[in-house]
Amino acid sequence: MFCDVVGSTELSGRIDPEDLREILDAYQEAVGTAVAAFGGHVAKYLGDGVVAYFGYPTAYGDDPERAMRAGLAIVDEIGREPTLHKADIAVRVGIHTGLTLLATGGASDRRELLAFGETLNVAARIQSFAEPGTVVVSHATYGLVPGLFVVTELGAHSLKGVAEPLPLYRVQAASGVRSRFHAAQTRGLTPFVGRENEMALLRSCWERVCEGEGQVVLIGGEPGIGKSRLVNRFKEELAGEPHLWLESGGLPFRESTPFHAVAVLLGQVLGTAGTSADVQLEQLERSLVAAGLVPADVVPLIAPLLELPLPPRYPVVEIPPETQRRRTLAMLTAWLLGTARHHPTVAVLEDLHWVDPSTLALQEILVEQVATERVLLVYTARPEFRPPWPLRSHHAQVMLNRLGHRHTRQMISAIAGTLPDDVMATVAKRTDGVPLFVEELTRLVVDGGPVRDVPTTLQDSLMARLDRLGPAKDVIQVGAVIGREFTYALLRTMCGLPERELGAAIARMTDEELVYVRGIPPDATYQFKHALVQDAAYESLLRSRRHELHRKIAAVLSERFPDVAEAQPELLAHHYAAAGDFAAGVEAWQRAGERAIGRSAVPEAIEHFGRALDLIDRLPDTAERMQREFTLTILRAHGLQSIDGYASPDVLRAYERAQVLGRALGVMPMPLLIGLWEAFMGRGDIRTGAHYARQLFATAEASGDRAWRCWARTVQGITSFHAGDLTGACESLVAIAEFYDPSDHLRSRSDPMIMALCYRLLMAALHGSADEARALAREVRAHAERLGRTFDRAWSLFYNGLLHSLLGESEAAVEDGRRLRELASAEGFALFVAFGHIVEGRAHATAGALDEGTEQLERGIELLDQTGQRISLALYRSFLAATYLEGDRLDGAADALEIARGATDEPIYQPDVLRLQGRLLSRRGAPAEAVEAAFREGLGLARRLDAFACEMRVATDYARWLHACDRTREALAVLKPIAAVSTAADDTGDLRSAMALLAEIQGQAVAPAF
Ligand SMILES: Nc1ncnc2c1ncn2[C@@H]1O[C@H](COP(=O)(O)OP(=O)(O)OP(=O)(O)O)[C@@H](O)[C@H]1O
Ligand SMILES: [Mg+2]
Repeated sequence: MFCDVVGSTELSGRIDPEDLREILDAYQEAVGTAVAAFGGHVAKYLGDGVVAYFGYPTAYGDDPERAMRAGLAIVDEIGREPTLHKADIAVRVGIHTGLTLLATGGASDRRELLAFGETLNVAARIQSFAEPGTVVVSHATYGLVPGLFVVTELGAHSLKGVAEPLPLYRVQAASGVRSRFHAAQTRGLTPFVGRENEMALLRSCWERVCEGEGQVVLIGGEPGIGKSRLVNRFKEELAGEPHLWLESGGLPFRESTPFHAVAVLLGQVLGTAGTSADVQLEQLERSLVAAGLVPADVVPLIAPLLELPLPPRYPVVEIPPETQRRRTLAMLTAWLLGTARHHPTVAVLEDLHWVDPSTLALQEILVEQVATERVLLVYTARPEFRPPWPLRSHHAQVMLNRLGHRHTRQMISAIAGTLPDDVMATVAKRTDGVPLFVEELTRLVVDGGPVRDVPTTLQDSLMARLDRLGPAKDVIQVGAVIGREFTYALLRTMCGLPERELGAAIARMTDEELVYVRGIPPDATYQFKHALVQDAAYESLLRSRRHELHRKIAAVLSERFPDVAEAQPELLAHHYAAAGDFAAGVEAWQRAGERAIGRSAVPEAIEHFGRALDLIDRLPDTAERMQREFTLTILRAHGLQSIDGYASPDVLRAYERAQVLGRALGVMPMPLLIGLWEAFMGRGDIRTGAHYARQLFATAEASGDRAWRCWARTVQGITSFHAGDLTGACESLVAIAEFYDPSDHLRSRSDPMIMALCYRLLMAALHGSADEARALAREVRAHAERLGRTFDRAWSLFYNGLLHSLLGESEAAVEDGRRLRELASAEGFALFVAFGHIVEGRAHATAGALDEGTEQLERGIELLDQTGQRISLALYRSFLAATYLEGDRLDGAADALEIARGATDEPIYQPDVLRLQGRLLSRRGAPAEAVEAAFREGLGLARRLDAFACEMRVATDYARWLHACDRTREALAVLKPIAAVSTAADDTGDLRSAMALLAEIQGQAVAPAF
């Protein structure tokens, strides 16, 4: 706030210097008093100018309001003070709000507190703009006190040295609205949510009151938690019932006006606001008589409270002040209770923490005496308030808790309409269920503000909560730098305070409801209740001080808490980075990522590697840095493959970057080769995949490293499989056993033996060796359990599910598909979510739930397409085609088969594709040659691939079609060789249907002979 005397130069010419000094003294005195009365701080007297701060050194949470009230008081006082009035001087006041850095500065012999930042300049400019005798504020200030003042809009004005024109307002008067909540009501309240229990309590108390049993309810809770709103809601509920509703409350700058809050209540009882003193007095007398009192005894005591002049017919009371006070209390009690006898009454007194001692003394009497009256006393108070009266059976206390997740989201949606999921989640998380925070942050976001900021509308009240801590503020600031959660041990080391002082500081923090406590010192842990409080505490520190604290925390952690540093390298990384030690930060993030991989926490690992990569640009450009970036890029790409799938665009981009770095460094390490192999195979580019597989093999052999030789064989085997060489594939995959030691692979994303077993079981199934496939499936399950990694489990579930599907065991396939889906969703493995849907969907369809199955299968395929994965696409599309055929959706089946045929160069799934093609053609009435050609080609291919199970399926469908065409002899010719082989084959659904068909054909063929 800037305040200045108008035309002081002219004044000094007009007035004798000695008189002038007297006038200026009186002026400074008046300004100083008004500023102090509203909790401001006079920073400087510059002759006739005064600079005052509100919110510093102590924030009260309503500092803009205080500044404006002080401004009005100054103008008022200058007009009234006799010396100033006589000199006919006028002042103007300018107020602006913003972030200001206050720090000591100036020449060494004249160090003083200086303000930095433009806020002060703007305030000065506004002041010189103001008309004499007025208070003018900027939009930044006015916007923080909506509804609390009557103002005149002055429009936007360009001020010297300020870039943008500023909207300005002339403040006329306080509007008389009691609080933020009541002001907010005028702009519309967010629809009410939750608080069912509290409402029920209020209702049941009210029922008792109506039966003549007075009740007292004290609603407690931190600022903005919804105390006033709860009362307001209750008022709305009572609207239809006859009752008298009185309400008033304490005000922050009226703590020392005796009976202020009661006077407001009395005014409401009289209902004569705005009428003349005579009318009010008459009404007072009537009301007293109605309450059974004698006006002559009471009026002299009460009239002054209501600021009514005492008419001469009443004697002036001349009794000692203490006696007078006691009698006033007694009379007020009698009057209020007497009035309540005519109607059941609710008397609300809000914000007890601010009421004056006299009002509180009256409450001490009332809470006892209402017990037998039809009065419900409702109080609200912040947590620091402790009722001075003993708890009675007709008293109840409710502490309001934060809103639950559902209600918070309801509030956000009510204000913002629809928000993107992640924004909604962040708002919910950062506001922690405090309705005020929810409203303010949501509005900030709706207005396009960043969700990470502390809304300016909350800054002041958050600072006020911190300032109330006194010396404990320093401690909580250190806590805020440590994090949302901090331990006693670390805090103690950081603060270096004696145990007692630290204990006292912590007690203040918990009393103010700023932190939660778990455990008992020295093993205690503290957590900030609200993210926004932590942010405010953090941001109230200078950047230099934050850096210093972060650096110290990192040092303390690594020196004195090695177990924490070891277990949570991400914590260390965060502090290093925030302290500006980027090299240490990068290293710690990398360690954090590697640890996360070891715990199967892949998304975290990706995040950690990403953080390291974000920081790496801040390091000097050296070969070492490039090496580090190279390693991190590969690690991150590997992680991404688990989550997004092997072939997602992000993955490819990451590997491209790695290749560039690798070329510059002249290296092609095996992790990169394997990553590239996975990415290309995943996309279905088997040729390029095979190229990397060969390179990996050569490099691994040359290195002689056991783990890599094992991987090289796994990779080789899988490549051979997809290229259609089942025998070669099997050999390689069996051969890995010689090089396999599970402990070599604990830190990698997945285990080579798991992958080898999965492929082997699939091959056994295709080959027709169902029992062997089942045995391998058991083995992979057991091994995945042993290893305990979720990614391995996902592989195992997928292949178990596929196997059940191929063997026609729908129930088990549904179960595996479902479990896979759940596991993969929980872990965020996009590819396996798709696989889960596919397996489960196909199984549902074969089990007869065709619609459900089709829908799920389609969903799975859609998800799969999103991951960019194309390898084995023919298998999944043939599932889809088969399902469409079963549902008579021939066009869909045709499309699916078309894609399946052109998908990749993998031959292994084509026999089934051709078989389905044959069936589709016959259903569509295509010429017999075309149908037959498809079946024949499928049969030939299956034989060449030595995939007996496929051959059997093709043969069965082919024979069924021949039989239907009355070509029974040919049908038998197709089926019989199968049957001959299958006497030795394992029991499967395919085999059973082949044999059933054979029996059917033979039965008919033979029948005529009987
Ligand atoms: N249950 C609720 N449903 C919807 N909005 C709510 C709810 N509770 C509170 N709010 C909103 O949150 C804001 C803060 O609530 P309120 O003013 O009642 O808090 P308070 O506890 O009285 O705070 P203070 O201690 O500062 O007076 C208000 O705008 C109010 O409308
Ligand atoms: Mg309130």
